[in-house]
This record gives sequence, C-alpha cells and structure tokens, in this order.
Amino acid sequence: MRTTSDAIHLTLYKLAGAALAEHQNFEQLGSPSLPHGPVSKLLPWRLQQVSMVHSKPALLCTKACLLLFPIGHLHLLAKSGPDVFRAIAKEYGPIFRFHMGRQPLVIVANAELCKEVGIKKFKDIRNRSTPPPTVGSLHQDALFLTRDSTWSAMRNTVVPLYQPARLAGLIPVMQSYVDALVANIAGYPDQDCVPFCQLSLRMAIDIIGKTAFGIEFGLSKNSMDSGSETDGSEGDDDVREFLKEYKRSMEFIKMDLSSSLSTILGLFLPCVQTPCRRLLRRVPGTADYKMSENERRLCRRIDAIIAHRRRDRAERRRTDGDGDAGDRSAPLDFIAALLDAMENGGGGGKELVQLEDRHVRALAYEHLIAGTKTTAFTLSSVVYLVSSHPSVEEKLLRELDAFAPPRAPNADELQTMFPYLDQVIKEAMRFHLVSPLIARQTSERVEIAGYVLPKGACVWLAPGVLARDAGEFPEPEEFRPERFAAEAEEERARHPYAHIPFGVGPRACIGHKFALQQVKLAVVGLYRRYVFRHAAAMESPIQFDFDLVLAFRHGVKLRTIRRE
Ligand code: HEM
Repeated sequence: MRTTSDAIHLTLYKLAGAALAEHQNFEQLGSPSLPHGPVSKLLPWRLQQVSMVHSKPALLCTKACLLLFPIGHLHLLAKSGPDVFRAIAKEYGPIFRFHMGRQPLVIVANAELCKEVGIKKFKDIRNRSTPPPTVGSLHQDALFLTRDSTWSAMRNTVVPLYQPARLAGLIPVMQSYVDALVANIAGYPDQDCVPFCQLSLRMAIDIIGKTAFGIEFGLSKNSMDSGSETDGSEGDDDVREFLKEYKRSMEFIKMDLSSSLSTILGLFLPCVQTPCRRLLRRVPGTADYKMSENERRLCRRIDAIIAHRRRDRAERRRTDGDGDAGDRSAPLDFIAALLDAMENGGGGGKELVQLEDRHVRALAYEHLIAGTKTTAFTLSSVVYLVSSHPSVEEKLLRELDAFAPPRAPNADELQTMFPYLDQVIKEAMRFHLVSPLIARQTSERVEIAGYVLPKGACVWLAPGVLARDAGEFPEPEEFRPERFAAEAEEERARHPYAHIPFGVGPRACIGHKFALQQVKLAVVGLYRRYVFRHAAAMESPIQFDFDLVLAFRHGVKLRTIRRE
C-alpha cells in the first residue's frame, strides 16, 4: 500500500488545490454515514437537500467529527486510490460528499451531472478549487488556476494558438522527435526490455521544449546516457539546469506529505498554512525555502527566454523593413506566437486581458506540467494495451499499413485516414484514465441534482467512475476499441459526456488536439517499424501510482519485434 500522500496526488493541481483550500461552510449540511470502517461512519456525508427524494436519516454532529478525525476520508483514498469513488457511488448514488482531510468535496459521478456542472451551470462553477498558498505565481498565473474574468480573457487570448492550422504546422517538429523515439528503441541495448514510458516521456518533454519554448532539451538524442527521464542533456548547461529545476518543481507541486511542513499543516490545520509558509520560506534548509528558491530560478530562466523572443521579434521586424523576409515558414514556438497574439489583439474580438510577462511565463511553463506526463502516459497506455490484444493489433496494423506514402501523415490524413486508431486511443484513455478526478469550485450558491451547494463549495467531477459505468460501457473491464466505432450501437446509445478524459465544457483541456496529434504520429511511426510484447520483467497485473496524474508504477517494459 502506498502512503496517504500518494493518494493526494491524483491529478494536476486538482487535489492539491482543493485539499488545502479554505474550509467551506459544509458543517451545516446533512450527514449520514459511509460504510467503510468506524472512522468514516462518523463523518458527515450527504448534502443539504432541496427535495426529500434522496433523503436518508441524518447522523451525528459534523464539526466535532472533523476535529476528531481531521484526515477525513483520506485513508480510504490511500487504500483504494480513485476506485474508492466507484464504490461510494455504487452505494450512495452519483452525487455524494467526500472529506479530503478537513476539506469537504462534492463528488459528481455520472454523465448527466458532469454535463450539468461542466456546461449547464458553468457560469456558477467556472473556477478550479482555490490553490493552496504553497503554489507560487509560476503555477497560479496560468490557465489552470486563474479565475473568473481573468481566466476567460486569458483563454480567449491563447485559444487561437491551439487551433488546427497552428497545430498542423507543428507536425514536422513532432515528427522529428517521433523519429528520435523510434531510433532510440532501435538502438536500445536490451531489445527484450525497452523502458517505453521513460522514452516516451523524453519525447514528450522534448516536444514541449521545442514547441513552447523554442529550446532543444536534447533528451531524446541522449536517451541512452542516463536512467532518469530528465537527465542526459549534453552540452548546454542552461538547458541542463532548466530541466533540473523543472524536475524539482514537479516534485514540489505533488504537495505530498514529504514535500513541506506547510503542506502537511495545510491538510490538517488550513488556517495556519499561510503564516507558516511565509515564515518557512525564509528559513534556509526547509522544503518551503527550497521550493520558493527553485521557483525564483525558473522564473528568471523563462523570463530570459521571453526577452530573447522579444529581441527576435524586433530583429524580424527590422529585416522585414529591409525587404528581407527570411524563412517565415518555420512555426513560431508558443512564447513567440503568444507575444504576436498579444500585440495583434488576438482572441477574435472577444474579451481580452492585458497579459503581463508573469502570465506569458506561467502559460509557457504550464505546457511542461500539463502536456508531458499526460501525453507520455497516454502513448504508453496505447502501446501497452495493443501489445496484449492481438486482434486489436492486427486490425490496427491493417489500417496503418494501408497508409502507403513513405512519409509521416499530414494533418488532414491524421484526421481522416485512421478511424480505428482513433477508437484505440479513446478506449485506451477510458481504460487507463489519466485524470480520474477534475476539480471545480462554485462561485455562487447553486443547485445541482436537487442539492443546494453554497458559494465556494468544491465540486469534483469523477470521469474515472464514468469510464467504468457498465450502463455506458458494457463489459467495462474489457479493452474493446470497437465500442467507439461510429456505427456501433453502444456508441450511439452512449451519453455524449460519458467519456471525458479531457474534461468538459469551456474549461476542458486546451491542449487535447496537440496531445492527440502527438500520440497518433507516434503510433504511426512506431508500428511502421515494430510490434511489441510485454517484457518478461513486466508485472502482472499492472500497477499504478496516483501521482499528479495516473502513472505506471514500474513503467511499461516491452519486447520489440521488428517488422519486415
Ligand atoms: C493525453 C493528454 C492530456 C490529458 C488526458 C489532459 C487532460 C486534462 C484534463 C482532464 C483537464 C481538466 C479539464 C476540465 O477541467 O474540464 C485538463 C486541463 C488543461 N490541460 Fe490538458 N490534458 C492532456 C494534455 C495537455 C497538453 C498537451 C496541454 C498543453 C499543451 C494541456 C494543457 C491543459 C491546460 C492549460 C488545462 C487547463 C485549461 C483551463 O483551465 O482553461 N493538456 N487537461
């Protein structure tokens, strides 16, 4: 069994933010019991009801219980991971209360309610849970954690940068790293045990390095040199330091019980967290001090890149003025494209925000946090699952082999020529859901499914529960991509929001097309040269960690079989 901290890491900021957020006024709500051991039995569980339809007898005091049992239901999460929500939903229905430490959460666990929270009531539930004070500006000033009108204005400004035309321009860059991945597999000394997760993460980080920052991280090119995913870059000291700082910051934002004293205190005594953090970050040697020093260094580094891009732009303008248009075909990296969009007043005439450098810096850095482990996990999961399902592999190979040109597919071809690959990816994302929970917070008093939620309530969607709902996905434990075929009865009958690996509504993942493009290019590139089998060293059944996102605990180890 992993520690409680592992369970707290479920998704990117999501648990962290909500678990430590201000204690809401939930004590006044109704409270029956949870059938998972004596501690849980005493905890407040249900929501205040508008109607009596769901009524069950209320139980015991709530404030006293939380004082006595400040870990809330964390022990259940530690024991069963996100599966615990499935068990509770089965017992209590699709909306229930869960105590993350002293923080009460409302969990919403069916497709219609996710639609209600994510779309119909979006106006009143548009933010993520309040981030804890340990999360610094580098994280707080990006899309994930900004709130209200700042978020909508920021999203309007950056959304054009994720549109198909720009993404199509990134294909050659992505493809070059896919080629490096294939070459790394070919050159790996032990063809019976290739550490696929590690190699795919290196590819994903390199792609973000180039497409977001315009930097060559060089991890794919030196992948044989070291064991860690983020070491091994040769040559440039700056790049090496950048990667080290990134790695450290990923450790810190896990917010686990090993990370900092203020984080631990925040779980059990939220009111002392902010003063404690302010104090500790001035005390050399403490985790809070190291955290803020690391963030300061990262900020300085990214600011230098932004300044560089500004100089590039000035130079471009000067040479354009001289009539030398130079090479304008290369796509701009995200920072350069964002600086352009800001100058041109992008956002399609909608509400715009005057972004400052701290926003540009945070938005670029967010790619490293949100777009690397998620995408690498998805690719690893596809390859892992296909490797153990021969009939899926055969059908997939038939489709991939039908793409004749000896080059990578372009954006149109990726879109239209690989319908079975689309089904395989969707099914893999259902089977191993990257983000089993998605955190939101009410900004007004709002009614959901007949329950009144006060302003400031943490409402979490549970796509992990939806993904295993036998009503929506018959035989949910079977890996069956055909269930997503357009003509399949199951697909037609399914609720449109039953499968939401990228979230739902206006706040859904902004990078999902970027991620899918990368995963598809990689699958096409890999299966041209290889098929894979699980290595003898691969554990069975496979084990997971609930890190910032779901992760394979021991990686995915594959035996390669070269195709003629
Ligand atoms: C397979 C890969 C990925 C998965 C499964 C994934 C999943 C998610 C999920 C579940 C959310 C929360 C959505 C919601 O609240 O409804 C999210 C948000 C977000 N993702 Fe992704 N993501 C992936 C890749 C990426 C990539 C590649 C990027 C950037 C290039 C990215 C950037 C973001 C951002 C910025 C947000 C916050 C959006 C906002 O609050 O407006 N993600 N992602």
